[in-house]
Amino acid sequence: MKSIIFFLYVTATACSAADLTGNWLVATPNGDGTVRRTYFNLKQQGHRITGTIRATLHLYSIDKSTGGKENFTITAAMPILGSERRVTYRGKLAGDELQLVEVGATGARPAMTAHRVPEGEGALPARIEPPPLHPVRDNGLARTPPMGWNSWNKFANRIDDATVRGIADAMARYGMRDAGYVYVNIDDTWEGERDPRGNIQANQKFPNMNALADYVHSKGLKLGIYSSPGPNTCEGYEGSYGHEQQDARTYAAWGIDYLKYDWCGAFTLYKDSEMRAVYQKMGDALLTSGRDIVFSLCQYGLSDVWKWGPAVGGNLWRTAGDISDSWESVSRIGFSQERLATYARPGHWNDPDMLEIGNGHMTDAEYRTHMSLWSMLAAPLIAGNDVRGMSSSIHDILTNREVIAIDQDKAGHQAKRVWQSGQQEVWSRELAGGDTAVAVFNRSPQDAKVSFRWADAGIRKAPSRIRDLWRHAEQKQTGPQYSVEVAGHGVVLMRVG
Ligand code: GLA
Repeated sequence: MKSIIFFLYVTATACSAADLTGNWLVATPNGDGTVRRTYFNLKQQGHRITGTIRATLHLYSIDKSTGGKENFTITAAMPILGSERRVTYRGKLAGDELQLVEVGATGARPAMTAHRVPEGEGALPARIEPPPLHPVRDNGLARTPPMGWNSWNKFANRIDDATVRGIADAMARYGMRDAGYVYVNIDDTWEGERDPRGNIQANQKFPNMNALADYVHSKGLKLGIYSSPGPNTCEGYEGSYGHEQQDARTYAAWGIDYLKYDWCGAFTLYKDSEMRAVYQKMGDALLTSGRDIVFSLCQYGLSDVWKWGPAVGGNLWRTAGDISDSWESVSRIGFSQERLATYARPGHWNDPDMLEIGNGHMTDAEYRTHMSLWSMLAAPLIAGNDVRGMSSSIHDILTNREVIAIDQDKAGHQAKRVWQSGQQEVWSRELAGGDTAVAVFNRSPQDAKVSFRWADAGIRKAPSRIRDLWRHAEQKQTGPQYSVEVAGHGVVLMRVG
C-alpha cells in the first residue's frame, strides 16, 4: 500500500515538476527544536497562480499573481479583525526548489527555500464544532486583581528555563513577591511538539517543567503558562485545539497555576461569535484539571468579552490590543477603559494588558501614571520588565505598597472619570471602608496646575484627610476646592477620607 502511495506521489510530483503547481514547505528552525512552517499550496495555469499560503496561524488566499516559474509575484489576503491582512512574495523555480522573498515586510526578510511536500500536508485541521453554551462554575480564584510577571513584553521569544528561574529569584530577593507579585508567567514560545499520545511537551528551552514549577514554588511564587484555543499560537507554536482537557491535565500535573489563553490561532477556524463557546471548553477543562488555575482570556477585547468572560470561567479578560512601551499606547488604552468599569468585580477583572514599567521608553513620571491608572482601574498588575536588573526608581514604582493597596482593594470597584478640563482629568474609586482613591492626571506634556471642587468630582463632603500616595505624605489642604501642580504626563494619586 505504502509503495503505491509513494508511486502515485512521485508520479504526481513528476507531472507537475515543470510548473509551480504543488504543495511547498518553507521550514525555518526556531532554534529550540521546533520549526516554523509556511506552506505554499499553489496551482499554476499558464500565467495565473492561485492557491493558499498557510503561515503559522494565518491562512491566506492568493488573489493576484504575475509572471511564471522563472519570476513570479503572488499576493494573498486573509480577513482578520474586521479588516484584511495581505502578503506578497516574489519567487522563482530553481531545479526542484522554490526560492521566495517576502516583499514589503517590515525589516529585511531573508530569502526562503521551499521544498515540495505531499498534497494535504499543512492543511488546516478539520473544524471541531463549538459546544453548546452553559455557565462555567466560578473557580473562586483572583478575588483581587492578579499580580505577577510575564515574559512577553521584555523577552518575547527569548524566554527560557534559566531566565524564568532568574526572574523568580529576583522577585523574591527584591521584594516584588512580598509586595504581592506572585505569578511568574511564561508567555508564548515555550511549546514543543506533542508526543505520540498527544501530550504537549515543552521545547528545548524548557527541559523540565515539573522541576521549574517546583523551583518557582519553592520561592513562594506561582507559575503561569500560555496557550491558544487554535491549532497554533500567535508565534506559530502548538496550540490546544482539540486537546483542551489533555492540556489542562498536563498543566495541572506540571504544577501550573495560571493560564493565559490567546485567541490568535483560532481566527482561521472560528467566527468571533463562537469565541464564548470555544473559551468555555478550556474553562471547563481547567475546573476539572485537579488544580487551581487562574484563567486569563486574551482575545483583545473582541465580542464584548466583559459580558461573557465570567460565564466561561474567566478571571480576567483583555480589553484591548497589545500594549507597547510608549506614552501613546499606555495612555490610549488606559484612559479608554471607563465604559467597562461596571464589569470588574472580585474574581473577574478587565485586563488592559501587562505593565511596561521599566522597559525603558517612558519617563518615570509616565511610568507612575501607568501604575496609578492601572491601580485605579483594578487592573491585573503583571510586570513586564527585567526585574533582575531594575533601577531603584522603577523598583519603587512597582512596589509602592500604598498604590498597590488601591489596586488590590477588596471592594473591587473600578475607577471612573469624574472631572475633566482639557487634558487634565480626575478619576475616583470607592474603596472598602469608606475612603476614596482620587487620581489627578495631566495628559498634556507640559506641567499644569489643576484646580477642581471636590463636589464637582462627586465627593460631597470636603475630605478631612488627604494622603499623597507617591509622596507618602499627608496633605494639609482643606476646603471645598483642591489645587495641585501635576507634571507633564504625570499624576497625583491620593487616598482621601
Ligand atoms: C498576542 C498577545 C500578547 C502575547 C503574544 C505572544 O499578541 O496579545 O500579549 O501573548 O500574542 O505571541
